Amino acid sequence: MATIVYVSPDDVRHEVEVPVGMTVMSGALQNNVPGIDAECGGCLSCATCHVYVDGGADLPPPSKDEAEMLDAVAASRRPESRLSCQIVVTQSIDRLIVRIPETQS
Ligand code: FES
Repeated sequence: MATIVYVSPDDVRHEVEVPVGMTVMSGALQNNVPGIDAECGGCLSCATCHVYVDGGADLPPPSKDEAEMLDAVAASRRPESRLSCQIVVTQSIDRLIVRIPETQS
């Protein structure tokens, strides 16, 4: 298990224990964290699982496909934007902080 800290746009923190191997997106859905829609269920075709990862996280860089899909959120995209369905939880990302955007459109 690793703790993932989801921060809502209104700064409410949701600290959730997520099993290693599960995605950050699934951890949010299974724990009723609001704001991550994940309409495609994690198959990298919707970009409605967009999050901003707090600086310093030791994550692999986004794949080419993830980077291309992030173009779908161009209006709200930032350098720290990621798709949470592509972030697999490992023990090394314990206490990862992800901020949820105002909207997923
Ligand atoms: S859930 Fe659809 S791209 Fe992540």
